[in-house]
Amino acid sequence: MSAKSKLYLLAGLSFLAGNAMAQHICISTPNTSLVLNAPNGGELKYLYYGSKLSETDLQHINDASNCNHTAYPVYGMNCPGEAALSVKHADGNMSTQMEVVSVSTNQEKQSTLTTIHLKDKVYPFYVDVHYKAYQDVDMIETWTEISHTEKKPVYMSQFSSAYLPIRRGNVWLSHLSGSWANEGQLTQEPLQPGMTVIKNKDGVRNSHTSHAEVMFSLDGKPQENTGRVIGAALCYTGNYKLKIDTDDSDYHQFYAGINEENSSYMLSKKEVFRTPAVALTYSDKGLSGASRNFHKWGRTYKLAHGNVVRDILLNSWEGVYFDINQKGMDQMMSDIASMGGELFVMDDGWFGDKYPRKNDSSSLGDWVTDKNKLPEGIEGLIRDAKKHGIKFGIWIEPEMANTISELYEKHPEWILKAPQRDPVLGRGGTQVVLDLANPEVQDFVFKVVDDLMTQYPDIAYIKWDANMAIMNHGSNYLAADKQSHMYIEYHKGFESVCQRIRAKYPDLVIQACASGGGRANYGYLPYFDEFWVSDNTDALQRIYMQWGTSYFFPAIAMASHISAAPNHQTFRTVPLKYRIDVAMSGRLGMEIQPKNMTDEEKELCRKAIADYKKIRPVVQLGDIYRLVSPYDHLGVASLMYTSPEKDKAAFYWWKTEHFVNQHLPRVTMAGLHPDKTYRITELNRIDNQPLPFEGKVYSGAFLMENGLEIPYTHKVDYHKLNDYASRVLYLEEVK
Ligand code: DGJ
Repeated sequence: MSAKSKLYLLAGLSFLAGNAMAQHICISTPNTSLVLNAPNGGELKYLYYGSKLSETDLQHINDASNCNHTAYPVYGMNCPGEAALSVKHADGNMSTQMEVVSVSTNQEKQSTLTTIHLKDKVYPFYVDVHYKAYQDVDMIETWTEISHTEKKPVYMSQFSSAYLPIRRGNVWLSHLSGSWANEGQLTQEPLQPGMTVIKNKDGVRNSHTSHAEVMFSLDGKPQENTGRVIGAALCYTGNYKLKIDTDDSDYHQFYAGINEENSSYMLSKKEVFRTPAVALTYSDKGLSGASRNFHKWGRTYKLAHGNVVRDILLNSWEGVYFDINQKGMDQMMSDIASMGGELFVMDDGWFGDKYPRKNDSSSLGDWVTDKNKLPEGIEGLIRDAKKHGIKFGIWIEPEMANTISELYEKHPEWILKAPQRDPVLGRGGTQVVLDLANPEVQDFVFKVVDDLMTQYPDIAYIKWDANMAIMNHGSNYLAADKQSHMYIEYHKGFESVCQRIRAKYPDLVIQACASGGGRANYGYLPYFDEFWVSDNTDALQRIYMQWGTSYFFPAIAMASHISAAPNHQTFRTVPLKYRIDVAMSGRLGMEIQPKNMTDEEKELCRKAIADYKKIRPVVQLGDIYRLVSPYDHLGVASLMYTSPEKDKAAFYWWKTEHFVNQHLPRVTMAGLHPDKTYRITELNRIDNQPLPFEGKVYSGAFLMENGLEIPYTHKVDYHKLNDYASRVLYLEEVK
């Protein structure tokens, strides 16, 4: 950079212009910088992403690095490399070569939007690369808009949202995988030469198996509270592909976007194709630091009602399954109200007229009350909820139908199905997916919610389920030459319906459920308040699932319910205290038949609900510090939440392996203020004696350097002894 360099500073963005060619753009958040070189008429290059740069360091940033990577690689002029974008132009030319035309910035309320406008050197083909930098949280969203004015359509075979080179060294990848009832399993592995691909092809849901979020630990084996970490989350509801290409260069090359498989896109003249955003964060405070960034950004900008604490609910599913009836619902409402709960949710099984929903093989699509089960209808249930002083919520699965339904009889053309072929059927042997590419179907799905809310405006909560993948490629609505748009159009239709619902019902609480945790993605969360983490409610397995899920999603979004023992999925018998202590680390609820509980159990739950109300703001709105990972198999897992002011904290400790005379590590806390002092209170105590440190005061420094010795058995009467142990401690600043 010449001595004549000039630094142009805008809020959150600076340009550094030197010789005729170089123009550095520095995109900033409170603690991070992302630097690009965007010379007019030249190639857009990536230079730096990490801790915030000083003006001095920014001046010579290009001399400090050997990175010569383009910021949005396109195919055709560097064929052996991977590309973010690959197109066939109208004349058949398979190559693209983009140059910077201009850079624009737009100051938005809490963010700065920087757009680098690129154009092909020859063709009227354009890519706008966007970076949205938040001013109060270390998050940068990036995406592209692709368009052209060529004479005929352009065919896109690859269209990633973003690309990021990551300097090789000892870089480890953390990512989530799993399956139904085992979602959010954490894998941590060093990046090796070759291609790492994380993908989804479900069509409807996208987070049962792998997740569209990753973290890169740049300083070797991932640590929770130290080390540099880059986190990335693709915010999309549909099929995705994340790729990390470790070739012969000095950089791992990260690509994220819509999964292009079976989805090549014919881009018409003047049509603008917008790729979903990738949210990038950087933290030098380890994985938990990156998680706190995701959580703060998620609560403030993504989740519906992200800063409003959630009601404590009872869901009817594991309590009664399809056996819904008015008396039973009334009894469950009365029970949850008596334990201090605030909301009752009636799950599957309440609907169907000609074909009443008795099991999972019929009725989806027929969203009318089954009058045999509920003679006084939903109005009767809402009346009963009011009588018990709680709110009422209801389950729907509006994107689906069963072939045994009045809807299917009337509109067989509305389902996704290949022409000339019988459909592959899903759940119950009769389930099919509606074609959300079709505007009439979109209207229908909107109307499912709109009708319920118009008839029963007191419905406070909807559980929106989705229990089937797209098993048939074929849209009766899309033209033959647009069949490859099916997955993309499905999700455009889905989002458009969600937007209509949110515009009309901004206060409604909606849960994203999809056979459990199939819809944990920031693409969904602007329309949903929370997601169901898993259909597996076993507390021990939930520790692992919730641990992984917490990498990217805040506790306020993670529905976590106390259920029966033996557990209905694992058949494991876990004591109620442990089930409570695990559920209380997320958005607490219950999923159990209360009439089968003893008075003592109900009393424990009543106390737990009262205690949870005390710590609810800390858990749901606070900062996470993960302390001991269950995946390290040290016999214990532990995490804590602190309030932003660091005057309150909730500490969780769960024994994960059960042996006699174990030597469990003493857990040191994190996230407290070293100079503040905190009084310790155990919540959900079952022991006959309080813990030795009950009510005592310790400094934040002591708790973070030494920690408290947690006994790994409970001192209870002999007949109550069992193999589990867990503790929840509440820390309050003593002023
Ligand atoms: C799958 C969900 O994950 C369950 O919680 C429950 O709502 C059932 N569907 C109902 O069919």
